[in-house]
Amino acid sequence: MPRILDGVAIAAAIKQEVAEEVQALAARGIRPGLALVGNVAASQIYVRDKAQACAELGIYSEVITPPESITTEQMLALLAGLNARDEIDGILVQLPLPAHVDAKTLLDAVSPAKDVDGFHPVNSGRLFAGRPSLAPCTPAGIIEILKRSQIPISGQHAVVVGRSDIVGKPAAMLLLHQNATVTICHSKTRDLGAMTRQADILVAAIGRPGFITPEMVKPGATIIDVGMNRITSRDEFERLFAGDARREATFARRGSTLVGDVHPKAFEISGAYTPVPGGVGKLTIAMLMSNTVRAAKMRRGL
Ligand SMILES: NC(=O)c1ccc[n+]([C@@H]2O[C@H](COP(=O)([O-])OP(=O)(O)OC[C@H]3O[C@@H](n4cnc5c(N)ncnc54)[C@H](OP(=O)(O)O)[C@@H]3O)[C@@H](O)[C@H]2O)c1
Repeated sequence: MPRILDGVAIAAAIKQEVAEEVQALAARGIRPGLALVGNVAASQIYVRDKAQACAELGIYSEVITPPESITTEQMLALLAGLNARDEIDGILVQLPLPAHVDAKTLLDAVSPAKDVDGFHPVNSGRLFAGRPSLAPCTPAGIIEILKRSQIPISGQHAVVVGRSDIVGKPAAMLLLHQNATVTICHSKTRDLGAMTRQADILVAAIGRPGFITPEMVKPGATIIDVGMNRITSRDEFERLFAGDARREATFARRGSTLVGDVHPKAFEISGAYTPVPGGVGKLTIAMLMSNTVRAAKMRRGL
């Protein structure tokens, strides 16, 4: 039977450690602070969950909801203000932003020292160069899952499918820094199955429901499924979950269900895997909290 890598338990352990660090900083008169900037309805739930996690761990948080009509220039002024405030250690610009706002310009305007999302090119460069940096939360969470589950990384062949700036590329770089031999695949990769079948650790960050099928997986491999896809079509449901009574109940109740980039049948031949939901996704907020405390310490030279 494959081992299920429990993102919920790992996230809880990380949050506990972060809470202890926050307490230790409080004893020195320091309270890490996170500014959450977001104003699109689609992002409000994410902002709320992050603010709630801050409250649980003793991190100061400030939710800023500028009007929909805000211009790029006004957002830049807002970010400049946050960059200058000493009680703010982390700034998160929640995507998506209103369509008329230039998201890249804004992300680049966040001070790299406060870039807790790890998206700023300075932090990407520092990550690439193996210098201390704020790494993007989801890829950092992947490493935590592997390490805390005692899955060896050094010398293993890690195949990452996906090369986005926020998941695939940084995940590959972090795995390389842990001494994995890394292959990065993408939509132009020839014979993808021949690549993925070589993986001791297979990271799927594609954005296509159940894309990785059993014949693409080496038996016993560790599968990290980053995908988060909500499916609503009955045909798609049948392709992925036929005969799964628990999923059937969810689908019937909600008219949708969440599925990763890996077909459930592929998990059956793995040695260990992260489920969806309950896997990588659970780590993202915990790593954001961890990055906020890290930013607070790094800025003060601690
Ligand atoms: N768990 C979490 O907290 C979390 C966080 C972020 C994202 N996600 C999920 O992770 C998934 C990926 O997110 P993302 O932001 O990295 O997506 P993205 O920016 O759309 O990138 C998808 C990547 O997959 C590659 N790809 C697409 N079709 C492919 C194919 N047929 N064969 C091989 N590669 C293919 C693309 O290749 P090209 O570069 O060649 O186009 C691209 O590099 C999504 O499901 C997203 O919802 C989860």
